[in-house]
Amino acid sequence: MKTAWTEVVESACVYADTWITWFRSPEIGNGAYPGQFLMLRCCDEGGEPGAELEPRTKNLEPMASFDPLLPRPMSFHRIRTGAHGPEWSILYDVVGRGTAWLSRRKVGDRVYGWGPLGRGYEIGHTSRNLLLVGGGIGVAPLVWLAEQAVAKALSVTMIVGARDSEHVFPSHLLPPEVEVVVTTDDGSAGRKGFVTEPFGELLEWCDQAFACGPTVMMQAMAAVAHASKTRRTVQVLLEERMGCGTGICYGCAVQVRVRGGRAMKLVCKDGPRFEARDVW
Ligand SMILES: Cc1cc2nc3c(=O)[nH]c(=O)nc-3n(C[C@H](O)[C@H](O)[C@H](O)COP(=O)(O)OP(=O)(O)OC[C@H]3O[C@@H](n4cnc5c(N)ncnc54)[C@H](O)[C@@H]3O)c2cc1C
Ligand code: FES
Repeated sequence: MKTAWTEVVESACVYADTWITWFRSPEIGNGAYPGQFLMLRCCDEGGEPGAELEPRTKNLEPMASFDPLLPRPMSFHRIRTGAHGPEWSILYDVVGRGTAWLSRRKVGDRVYGWGPLGRGYEIGHTSRNLLLVGGGIGVAPLVWLAEQAVAKALSVTMIVGARDSEHVFPSHLLPPEVEVVVTTDDGSAGRKGFVTEPFGELLEWCDQAFACGPTVMMQAMAAVAHASKTRRTVQVLLEERMGCGTGICYGCAVQVRVRGGRAMKLVCKDGPRFEARDVW
C-alpha cells in the first residue's frame, strides 16, 4: 500500500450519473488486481500532504478544505498503459458530496489517496467458466476481472443488472468475448426482473461466480446458491462505510461464518472479497 498524489488524466460521464475518471499514479495502482480498492480524499486540500495544515491551524481559518473529512473507498475499475506510464480508473455513481467532488475534477487536478487495499477476487486454477454478476455500479470491479479472464482464454458470462435502460453499463465497454446478459427492474432493456433469475439458470454452467452490487442482491444470490445445493463458490465484494481502509479504525467490521462459529472481520483488510456462504 502506498499513499500518493494522483493526477486526473481523463474524466467523463459515461451514462446517467455514472462517471469514469482516469488517474496517473503508478504507486497506488502498482500490484493491484481486480476487486481491490483505494481510498481517495475528496476535498480541496492543495499542496503536499501536511504542507498547508500548519499555517491554517495557526491562523484559525475554518478547515473547509478537510470537509468531507473521511476519504471515500473506490474499486479499481480498469488499468491501462498511458502516454506516461500506468493509469487506473474508477467507475462511480454520483451519490453525495465526495463523489460529486470527484466528478468535478478536471484533467491535471490532483487527488490524494492510498492503495491498493484489501483482498480482491481470486480465480481458481481449474476454473474455466466464470459467471460475473454486477448490480448497478457493482459492475465497476468486474470489468477488469472480465478483461483478465478473457486474456487467459477463460469463458466469461456477465449478468449486468440495472434499474432501467438508462443505468445499464454499456456492453461495448466490455471485451467482445464476454457473453452479456442484461436485466432491468422495469424491463426497459434486456430481461425484466432481477439478476438472481439468470444467475440461478447459469450457476451449474460456471465453475465460479463473482458478484458485486447492492447487499440485498448478493444476499438473494446467496439464497439461490444455497437452495440449489451447488458446490460452486460465489465470491462477493462487501461494501461498508470506511474511515481508513487500512484496518485501523474498525469502522467496517462485519460478522462472518468461520469454522466453529462466527467471527468479526474487517471488510477493508480481511475483505472486501468474501465467500457468499460465509456471510449469509
Ligand atoms: C470497498 C469499496 C469499494 C467501493 N467501490 C465503489 C466503486 O467502484 N464505485 C462507486 O460508485 N462506489 C463504490 N463504493 C461506494 C462509495 O465508496 C460510496 O458511494 C461513496 O463513499 C459515497 O461518498 P459520497 O460522499 O459521494 O456520498 P455520501 O454523502 O457519503 O453518502 C451518500 C449515500 O451513499 C451511501 N454510502 C456512502 N458510503 C458508502 C459505502 N461505503 N457503502 C455503501 N453505501 C455508502 C450513504 O449511506 C448515502 O446513502 C465502494 C465502497 C467500498 C466500501
Ligand atoms: S475502514 Fe478502518 S478498519 Fe476498515
